[in-house]
Amino acid sequence: MNEETNRRQRWQARYEAAEGEPQPARVLRELGFLLPREGRALDLACGRGGNALLMAAQGLAVSAWDYAPAAVEDLERRAEAQNLALRPEVRDVVAEPPAPMQFDVIAVSYFLERELAPAIGAALRPGGLLFYETFIRDAVGEHGPSNPAFRLARNELLHLFADLQVVDYREHGRVGDLTQGLRDVAWLVAQKAA
Ligand SMILES: C[S@@+](CC[C@H](N)C(=O)[O-])C[C@H]1O[C@@H](n2cnc3c(N)ncnc32)[C@H](O)[C@@H]1O
Repeated sequence: MNEETNRRQRWQARYEAAEGEPQPARVLRELGFLLPREGRALDLACGRGGNALLMAAQGLAVSAWDYAPAAVEDLERRAEAQNLALRPEVRDVVAEPPAPMQFDVIAVSYFLERELAPAIGAALRPGGLLFYETFIRDAVGEHGPSNPAFRLARNELLHLFADLQVVDYREHGRVGDLTQGLRDVAWLVAQKAA
């Protein structure tokens, strides 16, 4: 069994045992007011879909993709129960990245496949917004992947999405009073030129 199959099975097992409500990423909780009132959104590598649920509740038509079937089934049940415009799909986003010019919003949280960055940028429509939040190497706490390859280097989101216009970027790293601020993660909200 190769490493990727292994990883996928670990995610599946984790979601089979998951409990509680899925939560949106902090960037969407704090900056959700930047979302458009209508349009098509994608929650990429959605897990149980906290971002997707938030965006659908704000009136967007949301696609949500993840390769772990247990996560997608969980999200399907929630979307149906809440009568939301949400289409969860089991999809390997590396093998099948989004096509160009499809979405007004793309949200990515706690997932980092650098080779996907050009496809993510291209998948935004003119004026479309990217919300990206994930773990950094300059972390204070212990959560997140132990392999530094799965964490962002300093300012890396800015480099990965240099073609987009920055709306909000935050990376506090290990600067200042470590009990305050945005620690362990960085976020980028950026817009494709209209
Ligand atoms: C740390 S979780 C984050 C889930 C969700 N975005 C969140 O914030 O809760 C990473 C997710 O990436 C998914 N994933 C990893 N590689 C993937 C791939 N190639 N295609 C689709 N999903 C993938 C995993 O199944 C897992 O749900």
